[in-house]
Amino acid sequence: MPFRYRRLGYVALNVTDMSRSQAFYQEILGLQDAGSTAGGEHLLRCSERHHDLILHQSAAAGLRRIGWEMESNVEVELIRAHLESLALITRAVPTEDCRALGIEGAFRVREPQTGATFEYYSAMATADTPFQPTVAKIARLGHVVLATDDLTECERFFREQLNFRVSDRIQGAVTFMRCFPNPLHHSLGLSHGNAARLHHVNFMVTDIDDIGRALYRLKRNNIPIVFGPGRHPPSESIFLYFLDPDELTVEYSFGMEEFPEAAPREPRLLPMALSSIDHWGAVPDPKFAATGVIETMEA
Ligand SMILES: [Fe+2]
Repeated sequence: MPFRYRRLGYVALNVTDMSRSQAFYQEILGLQDAGSTAGGEHLLRCSERHHDLILHQSAAAGLRRIGWEMESNVEVELIRAHLESLALITRAVPTEDCRALGIEGAFRVREPQTGATFEYYSAMATADTPFQPTVAKIARLGHVVLATDDLTECERFFREQLNFRVSDRIQGAVTFMRCFPNPLHHSLGLSHGNAARLHHVNFMVTDIDDIGRALYRLKRNNIPIVFGPGRHPPSESIFLYFLDPDELTVEYSFGMEEFPEAAPREPRLLPMALSSIDHWGAVPDPKFAATGVIETMEA
């Protein structure tokens, strides 16, 4: 497959109480306000880009859509043609909506395995001012993980039809995937579950101190910590998972293996065991990645 990704572009979440969630994502997580759209999407950023996260008021909290940034308009058209050849319905994003999102030539499609809305575009505008870190030196929006009740088929679709590459697997539990040729160990994870849902959204931080400071900031503010701190064996990332006001799971992580485009190492297969998700012996809370409705594009 010829189409090439630049990166995970942004994640849009549905939240049930906008002001409560805006306060959380700005004051606790450390994102910066980046305005809003006429359609009621509130933009936040952790980089010099137009936005990295969107919050939208909804009755059910979870995933609204995922934006994927491709290397060029040509790549966007290639993947669009490929998805249409699979009899999937693609929809152009109206020009005024693209303008509000700082992107061009975007289209959306319902990813058939999880029902998630994927948006593809080739470039995003830059913000007028640099990102000003506050409580955490966030490096980037890192990855998003989706749960699926058919991990084998779901992984196959992402590999064979969407040009994702497998970095590592935990047998029967998780597949860590990179959006080729982006070097990060995973921009997307697929997790086995009893139904499709949002599993978690990750933000990578710059220093180990960002993890340690978060631990005490979260405790001071009575934010539930649901897993960690620990270190993931597959990616060697140090992690800390906590809950947003709707109990959606958010992760901070520090450090990640990167892959070369040519001749990358083979994916590893780790056994299904707690020791495959944490070197340090942390045990996930029952609320870890337990909730997150995937909003599906109307037919
Ligand atoms: Fe993660």
